[in-house]
Amino acid sequence: MKRNNIASLMEMKARGEKISQVTCYDYSTARIAEAAGVNSILVGDSLGMTMQGYEDTLPVTMDEMIVYGRSVGRACRDTFVVVDMPFMSYQTSVEQAVENAGRLMKECRANAVKLEGGKSVCPQIAAIVACGIPVCAHIGMTPQSVNSYGGFKVQGKGETEARRVLEDALAVEKAGAFMVVLECVPPKLAALITKKTKMITIGIGAGAGCDGQVLVYQDMFGMSGDFVPKFVRRFAEIGEQMKETFGQYDRAVKAGTFPEEEHTYAKSDCSDEFLAMLDGEYSGEGLK
Ligand code: KIV
Repeated sequence: MKRNNIASLMEMKARGEKISQVTCYDYSTARIAEAAGVNSILVGDSLGMTMQGYEDTLPVTMDEMIVYGRSVGRACRDTFVVVDMPFMSYQTSVEQAVENAGRLMKECRANAVKLEGGKSVCPQIAAIVACGIPVCAHIGMTPQSVNSYGGFKVQGKGETEARRVLEDALAVEKAGAFMVVLECVPPKLAALITKKTKMITIGIGAGAGCDGQVLVYQDMFGMSGDFVPKFVRRFAEIGEQMKETFGQYDRAVKAGTFPEEEHTYAKSDCSDEFLAMLDGEYSGEGLK
């Protein structure tokens, strides 16, 4: 049994212990995150932006989620892995949602799937949960609906909207979700939702009152360019360090200072006499 599972995460919530989640999309990064002791990895469809360079998450396909999710699944022994259901992989019908959730569980060895939306996706959540698949819901600012919002905007502002977000939370809980991501929601509303629900609340741009936090790893490592969303803390400037390191490599290759003798298989070389003979034998223009 994994060190982090639904029971252990629920116990953390009950003890008031905070839960850490980060996005990862590949084997090497997931191994490092697991070694660091994070509780959960989200293979988010944000990979459309961070790994594939699209301007939003809409183009990401099921097959792509499976390639990335499988790499992360192979890296994690103890970390709870949640894989995102991409745009239009669950919205069309309950059957489509169940089939695709099942693929993510089987092919990525995920521990749970995540899908965006509140009341409107409750039939899908209930059907997936009925198959024994844990569901993490995602409400507030749901990036797959960016075209309806007209941009990535804070949700739950004002009384009507705050009530709508709270009701979405209560609805996805009733449908069976065990965890919910609250994205770009005002902090007091997020804290109220956390108090009102037994689900684990994971905040991103939702303040410290949630049960846990999630960040996109390229944002926290300073690898996602100059624009820093308000809710991001850049814990390191790995992007700058990578740029510097690529530059060092480029200069060393061009100066001929890399590779050195120690980086070669010199001991396996044939004798100078034999190589001189080869040189003479193949003195024309390649093979005749
Ligand atoms: O896709 C993603 O990475 C997400 C997080 C931002 C919560 O949904």
